[in-house]
Amino acid sequence: MKNILASLEKRRKGARLGGGQRRIDAQHKRGKLTARERIELLLDHGSFEEFDMFVQHRCVDFGMDEGEKIPGDGVVTGWGTINGRVVYVFAKDFTVLGGSLSETHAQKIIKIQDMALRNRAPIIGVFDAGGARIQEGVAALGGYGEVFQRNVLASGVIPQISVIMGPCAGGDVYSPAMTDFIFMVKDTSYMFVTGPDVVKTVTNETVTAEELGGASVHATKSSIADKAYDNDLQALLQMRRLIDFLPSSNTDEVPEWPTFDDCDRYDMSLNTIIPENPNKPYDMKELITKVVDEADFFEIQEAHAKNIVVGFGRLSGRTVGFVGNQPMVLAGVLDSDASRKAARFVRFCDAFNIPIVTFVDVPGFLPGTAQEYGGLIKHGAKLLFAYAEATVPKVTVITRKAFGGAYDVMASKHLRGDINYAWPTAQIAVMGAKGAVEIIFRQEMSDPDKIAERTREYEDRFLSPFVAAERGYIDEVIHPYGTRKRVARALAMLRHKELENPWKKHDNIPL
Ligand code: HXC
Repeated sequence: MKNILASLEKRRKGARLGGGQRRIDAQHKRGKLTARERIELLLDHGSFEEFDMFVQHRCVDFGMDEGEKIPGDGVVTGWGTINGRVVYVFAKDFTVLGGSLSETHAQKIIKIQDMALRNRAPIIGVFDAGGARIQEGVAALGGYGEVFQRNVLASGVIPQISVIMGPCAGGDVYSPAMTDFIFMVKDTSYMFVTGPDVVKTVTNETVTAEELGGASVHATKSSIADKAYDNDLQALLQMRRLIDFLPSSNTDEVPEWPTFDDCDRYDMSLNTIIPENPNKPYDMKELITKVVDEADFFEIQEAHAKNIVVGFGRLSGRTVGFVGNQPMVLAGVLDSDASRKAARFVRFCDAFNIPIVTFVDVPGFLPGTAQEYGGLIKHGAKLLFAYAEATVPKVTVITRKAFGGAYDVMASKHLRGDINYAWPTAQIAVMGAKGAVEIIFRQEMSDPDKIAERTREYEDRFLSPFVAAERGYIDEVIHPYGTRKRVARALAMLRHKELENPWKKHDNIPL
């Protein structure tokens, strides 16, 4: 028995070395951790249970049947816990054939995907690989297809998170693309369908891997990445933080953590956060962090479409999805990118029973040919659609402007907003006073006194929350300092909300 156990340990030790010490050293030299080191940092200490450590590929082409086969076949899979809650994990091992995906490698991932879905727990994939195992051909492509199919079936059932920590090209990009969130590491990771060499051949464009698909490109321009971190360690620790916000599945409630932040806490500084001049900005993130428990706000897509802020926070220790127009950027206007960003976030929250709190300060949709040609109608409709179909508790606070169609879109009463508050500084109208007067009193435009008088008249009548409050579109005009308490109480009241949409196979959101 002693010898048997010793031989097991020897086999395990060999498997844990992956592609060998030389390749592990090369990985470290590039500032990257190995697959197993990453899993160790991601999960609670000692909680990782590995599966399929001894799986080997079955390829016999292109010399693959010669030499020693490496156990594990380029991916480390299993499950463990994050702060005591079960998560499933797979991490590509770049030291083994560049982490490339073979038929057996895919089968290991599929096993984990099936377990995660069956047992209703989140799955985290860590990517660092060279795409399809070139020697395997269609067997590898088939493997990808099986992984993709499971990504789709699990979408909206369990949270799926992708962390890109090295190359991620070819077939490897589409599995992350179908997950809920993608995070990248600056300087060491890149994602593209076809690499710089193919780009050069096909389009004659000269571009580096970093320029084509580096973390900063995807976190800012393409919006493929939800955030870029400085290094592996930071990214993995932030994934632990993110998991703490998420329910395990669409049938679970949001997690509840102990909090020392009193729900009745008033914040007097909110009374003065809105500048006297309505055209002056203030920081929506400051407002959100003043409202959430312990100022803990996990922002999603922070570097993209900065005119809208989305992310997770907690009230009474329970997760809430926050959406807020950001007056600091483009005056908080809704454009195509902001609409798509917020729509995706709202749909994630709705799929996973996360209540949505919306802070509104929006001057309308961004005019112009660039926006119209770019499909603003369709993209704006995404956000409208997302809010309208959402059945989770929806609490809205209009802090300042709620103009035009954007008033309707931003979780208004008319889109089944449960509780709609306004600050006394709210201005709810079809448009700002200047634009309105220029249109409805066009014939009086030559007389400056008349314009001033008409503008004042319009402001007095419409640029307040009270016309909407008179109609019951606003449930209550609240003091800014008490926002945290009022919103938290509203969410507590709505905790057992039940609302169902009519049966359908699925909706047809404008894509
Ligand atoms: C087999 C691969 C491999 C692959 C890398 N390796 N990619 N083996 N299949 N796809 C092996 C290398 O031979 C090498 O083996 C080791 O992994 C490390 O690779 P290097 O090239 O030395 O590393 P590096 O210089 O860092 O370059 C990494 C890389 C490059 C950029 C990822 O390896 C690369 O371009 N690989 C090919 C990418 C690609 O074209 N993949 C196919 C995409 S098509 P040794 O033994 O020397 O350590 C695809 C279609 C699927 O995925 C579509 C489904 C929808």
